[in-house]
Amino acid sequence: MPVREIATKPYPDQKSGTAGLRKKVAVFQQPHYLENFLQAIFDVEASLKGKTLVMGGDGRYHNRTAIQTAIAMAAANGVAKVIVGQGGILSTPASSHLIRQSGAAGGFVFTASHNPAGEDGDFGIKFNIYGGGQAGEALTDRIYEASKVIAKYCIVENVYVDLDRRGVQSVGAMEVEVVDCVDEYAKLMQTLFDFDRIRDWFRRGHRLSFDAMHAVTGPYAQRIFVDMLGAPQSSVMNSIPLEDFGGGHPDPNLIYAKPLVDLMYSQQAPDLGGASDGDGDRNMILGRGIFISPGDSLAMLAAHLDKLPGYAKGLAGVARSMPTCRALDKVAEGRKLACYETPTGWKFFANLLDSGRITLCGEESFGTSSNHVREKDGVWAVLAWLNILATTGLSMQQIADTHWKQYGRHYYARHDYDELANDTANKVMQNLIARMPELVGQRFGDWTVSQADEFGYLDPVDGSKASAQGLRVVFGDAARIIVRLSGTGTKGATLRLYLERYETAADRLGWKTGDALAALATIADKLVQISEITGRKTPSVIT
Ligand code: G1P
Ligand code: ZN
Repeated sequence: MPVREIATKPYPDQKSGTAGLRKKVAVFQQPHYLENFLQAIFDVEASLKGKTLVMGGDGRYHNRTAIQTAIAMAAANGVAKVIVGQGGILSTPASSHLIRQSGAAGGFVFTASHNPAGEDGDFGIKFNIYGGGQAGEALTDRIYEASKVIAKYCIVENVYVDLDRRGVQSVGAMEVEVVDCVDEYAKLMQTLFDFDRIRDWFRRGHRLSFDAMHAVTGPYAQRIFVDMLGAPQSSVMNSIPLEDFGGGHPDPNLIYAKPLVDLMYSQQAPDLGGASDGDGDRNMILGRGIFISPGDSLAMLAAHLDKLPGYAKGLAGVARSMPTCRALDKVAEGRKLACYETPTGWKFFANLLDSGRITLCGEESFGTSSNHVREKDGVWAVLAWLNILATTGLSMQQIADTHWKQYGRHYYARHDYDELANDTANKVMQNLIARMPELVGQRFGDWTVSQADEFGYLDPVDGSKASAQGLRVVFGDAARIIVRLSGTGTKGATLRLYLERYETAADRLGWKTGDALAALATIADKLVQISEITGRKTPSVIT
């Protein structure tokens, strides 16, 4: 099959954000747009030649087209073998696992995560490297530099791979293996969790409701929860992946997964409620009448994970992103575990996981996972909780109450201000930066500022540095106010304000989150001045 070299001109906007390159579908549909970016990867990562590449996506609009292009370009760039999920489907954690398990040199994950899909929606690509983790800052910067000067790309023309037919096909000298998207992932889960015990828990009448939100986790939930663990069919909601995610916004939080939340607060509530996002890496966890915030879920998992077969040896250490609440730190302190604080974005956990420093990590943005893959993992989190419930025999409420009594409770919320003009968003940041030096020692309400700075990170494994990773105003152990700019938006700038308040007194553990954070929100208003500067009276979304 002849390889063609096609002349092209660079696009200036191919810089990867927090989780890959993410743009409107129409941007990706521009002539040579995807091809340029992929060629930049092949040019920079010469090690893909002669090796295996894993490909799959969350099934959103443009997924199949992009995968056909990527396969044709892989063949032209000397890749030996492509492993692709049937129908072009692979969840982000399943991709990470396949890369690890097959010893592939890397993988392309086609997703814009929880961002809406469809012709007018978003599309994206994440480049994952050997070992299954996302390409780090240094590598994505080199790819960006290459994309800015690209003049040609290589492709084998008229390639068509039947993505629905399992088995091996060939494109010239390159082998393409279409694999079931769940098989290997399900096997991995069986090594981590006690499936017999969970099956028994279901047999005794306990119930789960999982909302796949018409996104990628449908097939995974169906196979694992229903077929393998014996949960009734009704346990999985919205299980068919759709190209537009059913018109929804598959972000598992209190706003976008409202039907599940309503169910969990109703008379019919099952024991456990879970949801995952577009590409299957996020998770939301609820019990009957109780929402477990991601920061709490992470801390509670840290406290219970060693009861589960895959973690019986105990945890090596734990990590959370800077804006994630410090509930995890309390468990780490109590159990004498190393606890790391990283910048936002899963890629920062990779070195800690690879070097064996940590077993468990998570982010406030509904992301949790362990060292079994190098991505966050929604179905894994639900299974972990199922296993904890089945093993302890406790309810979610009982687990949470006991946890808060022992470690104290962190009330937490994130306020997002979407689609701001870039200048306006920057003004908010600059305004706070300018005020920071004078803040330490100042008293606001009940709290005194102990630290006010811009977060930077020195990777303890490879010594790399990341600067400008968010502004934080810390009131000792008692509270934090954090502000940062999102790196995943596709329209204007998104500003995120994070509020955290810690309480230990028994009569302060049962507050409603909104009430607990009201005073801190008022202080944040005064300090950060978002309303004054942006003219926005309220956030676009509170999670
Ligand atoms: C957001 C989350 C971050 C997460 C990322 C990808 O990034 O805040 O924790 O890793 O999505 O799911 P942000 O838009 O804040 O840069
Ligand atoms: Zn995602």
